[in-house]
Amino acid sequence: MSTGILDNNVPVSDAFLPPQPVVQSPAQYPYLYPELQPPVYQEALPAKIVLPTLPQIMLSSSETQTDSVVAPASSLSDRRVANRYSLNDFVFQHTLGTGSFGRVHLVQSKHNLRFYAVKVLAKEKVVRLKQVEHTNSERGLLGSCKHPFLVNLWGTFQDANNLFMVMDFVAGGELFTLIRKSVRFPPAVAKFYAAEVAVALEYLHGLDIIYRDLKPENILIGQDGHIKLTDFGFAKRVKDQTYTLCGTPDYLAPESVDWYAWGVLIYEMLAGYPPFYTKGADPASLYKKIIEGRVRYPQGFDAGAYDLVQNCLTADLSKRYGNLHRGSVEIFRHPWFSEVEWDLLLSKEIPAPYIPDLKGEGDSSQFETYAENDTSEYGAKGRDEYADLFRDFD
Ligand SMILES: Nc1ncnc2c1ncn2[C@@H]1O[C@H](COP(=O)(O)OP(=O)(O)OP(=O)(O)O)[C@@H](O)[C@H]1O
Ligand SMILES: [Mg+2]
Repeated sequence: MSTGILDNNVPVSDAFLPPQPVVQSPAQYPYLYPELQPPVYQEALPAKIVLPTLPQIMLSSSETQTDSVVAPASSLSDRRVANRYSLNDFVFQHTLGTGSFGRVHLVQSKHNLRFYAVKVLAKEKVVRLKQVEHTNSERGLLGSCKHPFLVNLWGTFQDANNLFMVMDFVAGGELFTLIRKSVRFPPAVAKFYAAEVAVALEYLHGLDIIYRDLKPENILIGQDGHIKLTDFGFAKRVKDQTYTLCGTPDYLAPESVDWYAWGVLIYEMLAGYPPFYTKGADPASLYKKIIEGRVRYPQGFDAGAYDLVQNCLTADLSKRYGNLHRGSVEIFRHPWFSEVEWDLLLSKEIPAPYIPDLKGEGDSSQFETYAENDTSEYGAKGRDEYADLFRDFD
């Protein structure tokens, strides 16, 4: 029975029906914004069945042209993020994105003329919103990671009022924008992004880092079409804990929050809207649905993905993937991923389904436009009330 029609006219079935697999091709997808060019999908995921063991995934040290060594997952690398940068090294351009705490600008280096993304956080706001610890761990944790699917942090600096984090400019825009432009993804496309995100999460979990903010806005697409996670604003290190699940689980293994959000992401990529979305619903009823794990799947939802998503979102914690004693094994061994060759995926040898249309370095056309702020205020000198709080940024 159809109970609701969403904005994009996808009927939502009332029952918890395992959906029938349907063959879909990108050309069948309507586009929400007809004036925009539909993304061009390539064939994703060659049919090759070789599953490495999980430690291989975490410890692989494959290199690509743009990314160097993948740090061992057993300990945080001692790689230091440079603090030798200053505002004078960059020409600030427009805003690429804004979030709850920060604004990210496209900048150009005056020295090598290359483009970077600089996240700017106002100290006063960070303090007022009690984000001092989060902000320091964002810098510390992102700075300790090196992985092909994580944004690279080059350095940090500060002025009297602001903190600055210099990152790679990831030019292909947010996965969020690509989902909205495409309405939804064909299963192979969703599977490609889900698999790359899974490998990034597994790497972080191997370092005892929980990402905690997985959403399409924080997943960026590189110019090569492969993903880069950005925004470590909520990332947290959980040290020295072993989690075994016996009997009734009253708690969640910390990494299971990421796998839960990852299940939500797969749902959204395939359905075109998040799993608990109901038009006009008040937050209380949304919350109730989430707690109960009551997910409705649209007709035609990929059957293999249905089983995986349902197992990530189930309210029964003793069954939820990522919360079980074998952690993520169920996820990487799930039949939906049976053709995924994880080693190839990690070394970016599986062709990305969508290559952003970029006109050259510094092309930010894949990002939305935002009301700009006055960047001449950056670099303020003078009294710094919070001088003691953000020493690591110097
Ligand atoms: N390295 C980058 N390259 C290109 N764009 C980026 C980069 N990092 C962030 N952005 C853009 O800026 C936006 C905001 O960045 P970020 O998510 O780090 O900020 P935030 O304030 O912490 O957001 P949130 O509200 O999610 O916590 C991102 O969603 C993305 O569009
Ligand atoms: Mg964000």
